[in-house]
Amino acid sequence: MQRIFSGIQPTGVPHLGNYLGAVRNWVRLQHEMESIYCVVDLHAITQPQDPKELAKQTRELAASLLACGIDPAKSLLFHQSAVHAHVRLAWIFTCVARMGWLNRMTQFKDKAGKDRENVSTGLFIYPNLMAADILVYHASHVPVGDDQRQHLELTNDIAQKFNFDTGTEFFKPVEGLIQGPAARVMSLRDGAKKMSKSDASAQSRIDLTDSADEIALKIRRAKTDPEPLPSETEGLEGRPEARNLVGIYAALQDVDHAAVLREHGGKGFGDFKKSLADLLVSQLDPIASETRRLLADPGTVDSILREGARKAAAISTPVAEEAERLVGFLQVG
Ligand code: AMP
Ligand code: TRP
Repeated sequence: MQRIFSGIQPTGVPHLGNYLGAVRNWVRLQHEMESIYCVVDLHAITQPQDPKELAKQTRELAASLLACGIDPAKSLLFHQSAVHAHVRLAWIFTCVARMGWLNRMTQFKDKAGKDRENVSTGLFIYPNLMAADILVYHASHVPVGDDQRQHLELTNDIAQKFNFDTGTEFFKPVEGLIQGPAARVMSLRDGAKKMSKSDASAQSRIDLTDSADEIALKIRRAKTDPEPLPSETEGLEGRPEARNLVGIYAALQDVDHAAVLREHGGKGFGDFKKSLADLLVSQLDPIASETRRLLADPGTVDSILREGARKAAAISTPVAEEAERLVGFLQVG
């Protein structure tokens, strides 16, 4: 069986990296396979969130995903806390995953930084919940950005150990879909850092709610080097900022780096940035206005989420129950 599952955290406005690395692929894949997309609010609270803002951010992110083209007639869209099967399976996985496996997770190391003793225990077991999100739907394919590669490998390790421990083949391996020239969009201020919602500088990222003027200004100010664009991809080596802008351009046009350089090689960044800003505005502006339109009617967004959660629960509850039975919990109902 082929089924897509993916998730995104409601920790702020989605940015260009989320869009090009993940969400745009989700929109395409919903026409090819049964698709389930989730706003992962349980993951969001692994780091401090303002309880007054979380529900609002969850709805805003759902509106933004709909504006990007997630079609509730084709895909399930829901928020994670509304479907309890995820947590039921995540607890079992927390007892399957080994400390050593989680200790190797680079995302935990990055997020915890020097403050390891003070981060939540949820942040440490975050990947177990992610594995449960995917496997509780028996999903076969998971479209994500490049930063989630290690978590997908862990998902398969957990699935394999669960099967071994229970003497079954209940969970099948899952395949990541990590695609395109923008699977890893970098900060506009530092080509060595990925574009992220948590970066202190708003200049480092393009948010999907930015106005045309903000987009143009951020691209104009984006860090580059003094050389003109090369004509061949080898010329991007050692030039992370140039590679990043070319990758963004390529993704927006659905071509590869080489095609962009054939067209723009030899130009200075002034000209190239102008074309890039125009391209961004033409694709992101309609998304921003559609998000605003949807948020003027929060009842409609909420009812899409409610219906998505109902259908998602119908698929995932029996899987969580079967996993609990396989682990050996007493069944009295
Ligand atoms: P998050 O906002 O961390 O929940 O990420 C949601 C999705 O966006 C995941 O599939 C990530 O891999 C993807 N993503 C996040 N940041 C980037 C980035 N800078 N470049 C490409 N994909 C990204
Ligand atoms: N960890 C993912 C991220 O930060 C979000 C996520 C949670 C996810 N559960 C998932 C992605 C399941 C794919 C599948 O981007």
